[in-house]
Amino acid sequence: MDCRRRKIMLATGLSSAIGQALIDALGSDTGSAWSIISTTRGSMRKACQGVPVEWVSIDFRQGFAAVLGGVERALEERAVNHLDAVVHVAGVVFSDQFQSTTAGEWRDTMAVNLDAAAALMQAAGPRLAPGASVVLVSSVDAKVTSLAGPAAAYGASKAALEGLARHLAVDWGAKAVRVNVVSPGALDHGAGPHGRAVETVVQRTALGRLGRADEVAEAISFLLSDRASYITGTVLSVDGGLGLSY
Ligand SMILES: NC(=O)c1ccc[n+]([C@@H]2O[C@H](COP(=O)([O-])OP(=O)(O)OC[C@H]3O[C@@H](n4cnc5c(N)ncnc54)[C@H](OP(=O)(O)O)[C@@H]3O)[C@@H](O)[C@H]2O)c1
Repeated sequence: MDCRRRKIMLATGLSSAIGQALIDALGSDTGSAWSIISTTRGSMRKACQGVPVEWVSIDFRQGFAAVLGGVERALEERAVNHLDAVVHVAGVVFSDQFQSTTAGEWRDTMAVNLDAAAALMQAAGPRLAPGASVVLVSSVDAKVTSLAGPAAAYGASKAALEGLARHLAVDWGAKAVRVNVVSPGALDHGAGPHGRAVETVVQRTALGRLGRADEVAEAISFLLSDRASYITGTVLSVDGGLGLSY
């Protein structure tokens, strides 16, 4: 497909399991071709299923202003004047009791999960093309506490992220930009439940199993597509019915 017709996405955290699955999903989407600029703390160079990804090195723990400056510089250097999508996948969790959460853990959680998303949106805002789609990755922890390991900072950051999405959906609705959230439940990788916690979580999940990164990626891919053209300001749970029963 002609490179000039590729849709342009600004993203964070595409090195994650969900991010890699999203690249795969976009690569097999016959409806549109994507070109992606994603942040990373490292220097990823993986060839990705026919989807060109340019990696920009930014550590979100540097704070809002540094992230905003870094992303704006990256867009200016590449002469990116319009964006078709923005996806915030990056996230961290320090699984601990609230009382023992350190100031540094609290700050880093907010910096990566929330502040970086807000900075990304400020950089992207003026460049969002009519019809663009924004997807922020939250977590079931925005609404409920995990028995597998409570994480107050994480839950608070994700709840605020969902609030940010609702505000931006209203702000940007007039220019036909949609803003939505995908909220994964307990997944079978990364910070998902481990050991005996798996059994407890599975028992509380209607579908009786943990979720997979590709299942979350499908939901993101759907919200990015024109199939979701009248959906904005919503939280799409991809959690297998976690917490429906008690
Ligand atoms: N796994 C689960 O069970 C689960 C459940 C619910 C929600 N989620 C959410 O889904 C998203 C992806 O989860 P995952 O488990 O697939 O992620 P993961 O494999 O743990 O990867 C974390 C991602 O966040 C980025 N990141 C971490 N710290 C960063 C920092 N200081 N600056 C910039 N980027 C940073 C990493 O980028 P680099 O390493 O490239 O820098 C990486 O791409 C997260 O938002 C998470 O909260 C996950």
